[in-house]
Amino acid sequence: MTNRFATYPSLEDKTVFISGGASGIGEQIVRAFAAQKARVGFVDLDAAASAALAEELGPNVISELCDLRDVESLKAAFGKLQERIGPATVLVNNAARDDRHSWQDLTAEYFDERVATNLRHMFFAIQAVAPGMIEAGGGSIINMGSNSWWEAGGGFPAYATSKAAVHGLTRTMARDLGDHRIRVNTVVPGWIMTDRQKTLWATEEALENHVKRQCLPDLIEPVYVARMVVFLASDDAAMCTANNYMVEAGSI
Ligand SMILES: NC(=O)c1ccc[n+]([C@@H]2O[C@H](COP(=O)([O-])OP(=O)(O)OC[C@H]3O[C@@H](n4cnc5c(N)ncnc54)[C@H](O)[C@@H]3O)[C@@H](O)[C@H]2O)c1
Repeated sequence: MTNRFATYPSLEDKTVFISGGASGIGEQIVRAFAAQKARVGFVDLDAAASAALAEELGPNVISELCDLRDVESLKAAFGKLQERIGPATVLVNNAARDDRHSWQDLTAEYFDERVATNLRHMFFAIQAVAPGMIEAGGGSIINMGSNSWWEAGGGFPAYATSKAAVHGLTRTMARDLGDHRIRVNTVVPGWIMTDRQKTLWATEEALENHVKRQCLPDLIEPVYVARMVVFLASDDAAMCTANNYMVEAGSI
């Protein structure tokens, strides 16, 4: 399949902050905004992958290391991005980890850790960047959800619970920030063929079963999630807020 993707003039020179940008879907989001000639700052805890990506993409893409589970470290990293490339008018809350865990063994400590990994940092990133967006007269915030909980997927109750809550975060922040013309949306990926998924869970049998549940016959590459994100960040989506945008090939 050959694709000729859109260019959005409204994204040129925009400052964009992305969490979890070093690999997987986040890496494709970084690449997509860089291709739109935006100024991109991303945070991640993977030092080697972050440095390699920033170096490959050149001076318009910078990174800061941080573990988003630590809110003080998150605030410091976003503060440094802002010092280096100015306040963001686009924020993509992408980082998460879908580690498996059984409901029988789940402790309160691990439940809290999963929420910190998959949900809490999204709010604190919004809190960090929203004042700059308010001053700029508007912005676009994109929170990464997952259709796993909607499909009643099992084996990761604290991840699924966090991902379901992303929808609530999106809708309440869309209300709180809407007066400032800041839009907040959730992008909802289906099963996306990142390196991590391919290494850990994409067995031949799992893929075969999954494709049967999609309406479309092709596995979803991460770039297609990035295409939805750049659309939602652009002025083309100026009247889209408080909603969910699925990229799941009609998975039922
Ligand atoms: N891949 C899929 O099939 C799929 C499906 C549904 C939803 N999603 C969602 O898409 C988003 C991206 O997922 P992905 O598959 O690309 O994941 P991934 O594991 O491939 O990449 C996640 C990135 O986030 C970083 N990260 C993780 N925890 C971090 C932390 N505490 N601090 C800083 N950085 C951290 C990792 O280092 C990595 O670079 C997530 O929100 C995930 O829930 C993915």
